[in-house]
Amino acid sequence: MNIAVIGTGYVGLVSGVCYAELGHDVYCVDKDPAKVELLQGGEVPIYEPGLQPLMRSNADAGRLKFTTDTATAIAGAEVVIIAVGTPPLPNGEADMQYIEVAAKEIGEAMNGYKVICVKSTVPVGTNERVRAIIADYYKGSFDNASVPEFLREGTAVQDTMNPDRVVFGTESKHAASLLTELHAPLTKEIVVTDIRSAEMIKYASNAFLATKISFINEIANICEKVGADVSEVAKGMGYDRRIGASFLRAGIGYGGSCFPKDTKALIQIAGNVAYDFKLLKAVVEVNQHQRYGVLDKLFNALGTLKGKTIAVWGLAFKPETDDVRESPALEIVDRLIALGAVPKVYDPVALESFRKVYDDPAMMWCQSAQEAIQGSDALCLLTEWKEFVEFDLAAIEAALANPILIDGRNVYSYEAVKGTGLSYYPVGRPVHHIEREYVHG
Ligand code: UDX
Repeated sequence: MNIAVIGTGYVGLVSGVCYAELGHDVYCVDKDPAKVELLQGGEVPIYEPGLQPLMRSNADAGRLKFTTDTATAIAGAEVVIIAVGTPPLPNGEADMQYIEVAAKEIGEAMNGYKVICVKSTVPVGTNERVRAIIADYYKGSFDNASVPEFLREGTAVQDTMNPDRVVFGTESKHAASLLTELHAPLTKEIVVTDIRSAEMIKYASNAFLATKISFINEIANICEKVGADVSEVAKGMGYDRRIGASFLRAGIGYGGSCFPKDTKALIQIAGNVAYDFKLLKAVVEVNQHQRYGVLDKLFNALGTLKGKTIAVWGLAFKPETDDVRESPALEIVDRLIALGAVPKVYDPVALESFRKVYDDPAMMWCQSAQEAIQGSDALCLLTEWKEFVEFDLAAIEAALANPILIDGRNVYSYEAVKGTGLSYYPVGRPVHHIEREYVHG
């Protein structure tokens, strides 16, 4: 099949590479000439495990090409996939300007029947809007489909090649059979539905997962007060197949490019039809509040943050990505500085991307995990990178001036911690506190 993908962001690039890997001829378009040049040279602008070798092998095999010109890309395409960004507007609504430009350019370049799919996360009704824009420019026949994307950063290639399900919404039998043929090698679970329901499935899925996270975070906060252990609670809950074990990891709240944006957008979508989505509003509020738990624990341990050096391990919103969009670390570091502390930050891959969006003279940028903890008054672990999970606890204790470990992701076991002199503050699990005089300097 000939496929054009408009937009080479996370979703567009990964989808394009994976469709090529399935043996299709894929043309990817991006407005940014520098990005296209980079991609043509075999370089991937994002950190995503496994993506670069797959991109290179498909480009070498001649199945994957890049261009800045929409008309060139779609000329021979049977399926056109719109995967441009829909960033949040200040009121939480998705910004549709890139979708509209893409639709206009497709409309102008149409040269025959094609199936126009929207993969970007878009409000209900957007596919109809895209259809109307294209129809303004092109009078021939074409079909539309909503093909929502469920990939996660860090496991994007694996998620795309082995999805739990593929969903598409279309009113056209022909488009449905073409898209079924395209996705059949990936999964048996193909949900074909109407366009509006497909658009809603994406928002509902992300909102539900965000709800699970906020729910377990609130359970964690209660566990801290009643002396229970949230990881045990989550384990006990997760065996119930109706609940499921995943997305019940308590921590410092969700971040990233999807959950924060899509939850707020769905609240707006509901508001636009005069529906007050109370539950989802609470999910967002709980998530916001959850970040402050780290600071409360630091206060409890140190009494004051003024003049304290605080090691921060992890800036990315989750491991295996350099993405810091809506990362809880942004706000935690900002608060630390506001409270007079000196954050010594380290992340295996996200230092540069963090620095681009947040910098302050009070910060110390460290090139290793060891450098960050050396002589610091406490350590906060904010992202569960393998490097941190495997770090020797005795070495942490030895390096810190005050052996205080705030584990925002619950990565260490009590057995391991008990063998050390660390005061250990996890999330929703009992504190392991060692009475001692702290160094104040
Ligand atoms: C998410 C969805 O999973 C994916 O289907 C959708 O297409 C895009 O949004 P992503 O943002 O890449 O993917 O990451 P994900 O692994 O879902 O994690 C999101 C956030 O939730 C991270 O900050 C993570 O740390 C947090 N999280 C996740 C928890 O705090 N607890 C959990 O149990 C799971």
